[in-house]
Amino acid sequence: MQLSKDFSLKQYHTFHIDVSAKYFAAFQSLHELQHILELPEIKNEPLLILGGGSNLLFTKNFNGLVLKNEMDGMGTVHEDERHVYVKAGAGVNWHRFVLHCIHRNLAGIENLSLIPGNVGASPMQNIGAYGAEIKDVFHSLEAYHLYEKKTCTFTSNDCEFGYRESVFKRKYKNQFVILNVTFALNKVPHYNISYGAIEEELKKMKVRQLSIKAISDAVINIRTSRLPDPNVIGNAGSFFKNPQVSNSKLEALRTGFPDIPSFKADDAQVKIPAGWLIEQCGWRGFRRGDAGCYDKQALVLVNYGNATGHDILRLSDNIFESVFRKFDIKLEREVNVI
Ligand code: FAD
Ligand code: EPU
Repeated sequence: MQLSKDFSLKQYHTFHIDVSAKYFAAFQSLHELQHILELPEIKNEPLLILGGGSNLLFTKNFNGLVLKNEMDGMGTVHEDERHVYVKAGAGVNWHRFVLHCIHRNLAGIENLSLIPGNVGASPMQNIGAYGAEIKDVFHSLEAYHLYEKKTCTFTSNDCEFGYRESVFKRKYKNQFVILNVTFALNKVPHYNISYGAIEEELKKMKVRQLSIKAISDAVINIRTSRLPDPNVIGNAGSFFKNPQVSNSKLEALRTGFPDIPSFKADDAQVKIPAGWLIEQCGWRGFRRGDAGCYDKQALVLVNYGNATGHDILRLSDNIFESVFRKFDIKLEREVNVI
């Protein structure tokens, strides 16, 4: 563990914007974290907890301490008739954890294969993809309160999970460091191939016997064909959430846009794919300097090389305005802007 000064963050976040942190330190245990927090240099400095940096947009240098969570380790903590409870350190790469579970034939997160980032950030926005969310298998987490200096346990109810939401993004924002997460994985799989593209991909792969490995492979194939690899083109996945509107608003929109796609959210509301709205406004494949809107998925904003955070943010503001003007829908950001 070492405290670095004027530390480049370019390789520590997936937009790869050229920014630096006034101070940077990585920790591998609660003890190391507590030690760093006691250092006189960093007293009163603003703090930013960093995982894999795959849901962040930096618009300026970070004038404080960036703390990279590298708490490792995975293991079974409990088992009952239906579940195996596996605890993973916050610093474990998410996809490595998924593969570990698939290898052990533990089901429930195969649809969440290949999501970038680390285990510790997975409850922050209740990561989701292809019909699954981590709240479906979440058991509990341990988190350290930065100001009260104590470790607390959160159950699923405590986390108040929603679509890309949790208490850690709202009332407890910037207060807790998630240390580890325990998941209740299923001994018997409940295959979820309701998301159309998975079924299609399984057919293409000529899968005869459905398995969690086959679903994971299908999801990996779909993702690699549609989403830009952050190691090649900087991005943070979906820049906005898919907006939710009332059934009556959808009906009104249908008069002007009969092809508008929608998915049921609950009895009164539907979700509309933001990628469709953005594409209809003509942004798909747009590029201004090194900031762009990805040509295979308009919901993903990209850095082709030397874009600044402001270039990306300005593009996102332009997109927001044109979607609002055309559809009277206000997009909400998914990415955390720093
Ligand atoms: P970071 O970006 O490092 O941090 C995100 C937020 O969490 C920050 O506010 C940070 O301060 C906080 N944080 C991180 N770790 C901790 C911790 N241990 N304790 C407290 N706070 C912490 N997301 C989806 O949900 N579904 C997808 O399908 C999906 N696809 C993506 C595809 C691509 C190509 C990319 C680049 C991103 C995608 N994402 C997706 C977004 C991203 O992968 C997730 O949000 C992921 O969980 C972020 O993890 P991270 O470790 O990189 O978090
Ligand atoms: N679409 C377009 N044009 C586009 C992009 C999408 O018309 O350029 C329409 C198509 O009709 C498509 C529909 O949008 O059928 C849905 O697209 P896709 O399946 O790619 O999913 P998404 O709704 O754009 C969401 C998540 C992704 C997640 C996928 C798969 C959000 C904000 N995004 O994207 O999560 O991987 O579903 O489940 O909910 C992320 O959070 O970073 C992320 C990538």
